[in-house]
Amino acid sequence: MHNQPTSFFFSLLLLLRISALSAQHQVYVVYLGGHSGLQTPEEIENIHRSYLHSVKSSREEAAASIIYSYKNAINGFSAFLTSQQADALSEMDGVISVFRSQPSRLHTTRSWDFISLLEANWDASMANGEDLLKQAGYSQNVTVGVIDTGIWPESESFSDTDMGPIPSYWKGSCQSGDQFNSSNCNRKIVGARYYLKGYEAAYGPVDPKFDFKSPRDMAGHGTHAASIVGGRMVPNAAAIGGIGSGTASGGAPLVRLAVYKVCWAVPGASMAEGNACFDDDLIAAFDDAIADGVQVLSVSMGRSTSVPYERDGIAIGALYAVKRNIVVACSAGNSGPDQSTITNVAPWVITVGASSIDREFSSPVMLGNGVVLVGQSITPFDEAGTYPLVYAADVEIPGSTTSENNGLCMSGTLSPDLVRGKAVFCRSGATFETLEVARAGGAAAVLGNSYEGMGVIGQSFMIPTTTILSNEIPIVYNYTVSNKAATVTLKPVKTLSGTLAPFMAPFTSRGPSLVDPNILKPDVTAPGLNILAAWSEAASPLNVPADKRVVKYQFLSGTSISCPHVSAVAALLRALHPNWSSAAIRSALITSSKPSNNEGGSITNAQGNPSTPFESGAGHIQPSLAADPGLVYDASYGDYLLFLCASSGNRLDPSFHCPDDDDDVPSASHFNYPSLAIDDLEDGRMRVARVVTNVGPARSTYTVTINQPPGYTVKIAPAVLRFSAVGERQMFNITVTAGGGAVENVYAFGSFVWSDGIHRVRSPIAVTNSD
Ligand SMILES: *[C@@H]1O[C@H](CO)[C@@H](O)[C@H](O)[C@H]1NC(C)=O
Ligand SMILES: *[C@@H]1O[C@H](CO)[C@@H](O)[C@H](O)[C@H]1NC(C)=O
Ligand SMILES: *[C@@H]1O[C@H](CO)[C@@H](O)[C@H](O)[C@H]1NC(C)=O
Ligand SMILES: *[C@@H]1O[C@H](CO)[C@@H](O)[C@H](O)[C@H]1NC(C)=O
Ligand SMILES: *[C@@H]1O[C@H](CO)[C@@H](O)[C@H](O)[C@H]1NC(C)=O
Repeated sequence: MHNQPTSFFFSLLLLLRISALSAQHQVYVVYLGGHSGLQTPEEIENIHRSYLHSVKSSREEAAASIIYSYKNAINGFSAFLTSQQADALSEMDGVISVFRSQPSRLHTTRSWDFISLLEANWDASMANGEDLLKQAGYSQNVTVGVIDTGIWPESESFSDTDMGPIPSYWKGSCQSGDQFNSSNCNRKIVGARYYLKGYEAAYGPVDPKFDFKSPRDMAGHGTHAASIVGGRMVPNAAAIGGIGSGTASGGAPLVRLAVYKVCWAVPGASMAEGNACFDDDLIAAFDDAIADGVQVLSVSMGRSTSVPYERDGIAIGALYAVKRNIVVACSAGNSGPDQSTITNVAPWVITVGASSIDREFSSPVMLGNGVVLVGQSITPFDEAGTYPLVYAADVEIPGSTTSENNGLCMSGTLSPDLVRGKAVFCRSGATFETLEVARAGGAAAVLGNSYEGMGVIGQSFMIPTTTILSNEIPIVYNYTVSNKAATVTLKPVKTLSGTLAPFMAPFTSRGPSLVDPNILKPDVTAPGLNILAAWSEAASPLNVPADKRVVKYQFLSGTSISCPHVSAVAALLRALHPNWSSAAIRSALITSSKPSNNEGGSITNAQGNPSTPFESGAGHIQPSLAADPGLVYDASYGDYLLFLCASSGNRLDPSFHCPDDDDDVPSASHFNYPSLAIDDLEDGRMRVARVVTNVGPARSTYTVTINQPPGYTVKIAPAVLRFSAVGERQMFNITVTAGGGAVENVYAFGSFVWSDGIHRVRSPIAVTNSD
């Protein structure tokens, strides 16, 4: 075969490419650990090819099947393989894991009609925000990598006016492509790259109708996230109709942004499917971001189910980022309110839940019988309008629905003859419902909230639309079914400030983590409900073809939106404390978070019940307090690897050797995390150790207070820690004992706080016991 003429070789390549897309060949990631730094890029690529050659019939086939060869920090490659070839590779020396490259999804509430900016309310949530920003030099020497759908570089939020030169450490680049060239980067957008080989292997070439083959953002999500991290202050930014008007600003307005586009529109996909971000593209982005010199990475996406770390592109990429002391913030997911829905749970990342800010967009609904309901809307309409009101199930095309799914205003179900000029009531609502009402000629829509309790996800619909709370649905239902001449009056949106906040967004994913129940996740919560931020002008507010409107700023909800808030604060902390570890920065964020709301009660969930640490983590981030946490729970790269010995027995980095004797492997609960989770108390009692490092005044004395989890006794010894130097470390033991009141297999929650009278270093506790 080596002697075949070139033309044959090329047709063979072509055949291989085609067959590679057939069912037998799928894209796999072959993960080999990290690089020793001793090999040249050519040597690395040769090693990767020789692995492939050992399972492929020829060198040519091996060369043609490779997709990515990871050469910077992460060692491994992705390639088209059959499942037999994948199995054979996984048996080979040096191979840690071989896994199918799977798509992550963006963590907006609807994967397709994603995002939006940092607004005035953000400042309110940052006590002394301005001082902190000044001290941090507005983070102008820090670069945050945003791994997402790209960026809309023309947005005013990304202007580089008056920004100083790009920091000398920066090694990134600006990659040209469809409607994007090096002129689109500036002193604000210092890097922009895109990764689509994994996507194209699954879906074929990017369709220019649905996405730009370049770092340019067609979806809006990446632009929204980047502007939350580091958008400039833009006065009078507002969503369509002037709603939410105020100064738009990122959390770190002078930070440098580096864009890594890994998520691509799935053509013809159902809207819920939206964009796909494949593992092998993600790993390539992490590998480059690490080499480029980012100090913080913001990752607003995740897999729909939890996957073990060694098969999770984000967990692998983040581990090597953290090895270089890069802080990685990830969204927790939007699969709530069910428990154990949380994703991105590795202890080396910051996992961010989503909660409300103290602002609501009120748009009351008045029924013809005089009953007034609490409605919420961000759809602009100028005047109150009164319309005949019909229930969707009564105006459907016969046969288009069943008794199970009627009344939902699903696409193609409403009869134009019965709907024209009327307001339609749909039992639950997001985007498609009002699109269907509009398609059928309806004049307005009343949507029932899809979630129970508080928390309505606002969207800029195209016809007057108001969403009512779920407990109000039966009221409207009863009224419409018993009145042939029902009417409704919708009132225009009024912005209410200072409302009860934060409460947890109903969709925010919940712990305990299925991958590692001995690490408490999420870590913290941050604003993620109806947040205004910059938008792509190639995306409409609803991100559907029927919507032709162009906006510069727009509202979005999701943990996709809360994550970049934390990335912004991490960038400020990085500027303030250049030599803190990424673990110290995470610890500062966690232990300074606030578990209470603006009325002094517990942060609640959307139902109004006190939230548990599995919903809100340690609480809402408090940037100014995080800047001066007093003590930190530090961890080194080696500590994470030792943790992995216990948690999964898998070593993500083969250069590290787990203790030979299992008895020498500490339980995962021992990992020096700023919170404590014990999935199952062994023998009703367990002792774990923690080490705190003094980052406050040299001389200080901390005393512990414990809020006992009901049914358990937590003892901490010693109960007083005396420090005489900055950087001094002190160890303490925590002993947890199940008492008579402990309910088997039900989590109990508590906390402990170290305080020197000035700093409060608070750690939440979650514990269960099965015996
Ligand atoms: C940023 O870096 C430049 C050059 O390295 C230095 O002169 C400047 O003081 C730094 N600014 C801040 C706020 O750290
Ligand atoms: C980038 O594209 C713009 C618009 O097409 C063009 O004006 C500009 O010269 C290009 N810049 C570079 C560096 O190619
Ligand atoms: C709706 O009507 C039913 C039957 O008449 C009644 O039982 C129910 O309480 C009503 N619900 C509301 C919220 O008015
Ligand atoms: C941080 O860096 C500064 C300056 O390089 C050094 O003086 C200080 O000791 C370092 N602190 C720690 C905790 O490593
Ligand atoms: C923690 O417990 C271990 C095991 O009993 C003990 O050796 C150690 O001295 C204790 N540490 C502290 C600070 O009490």
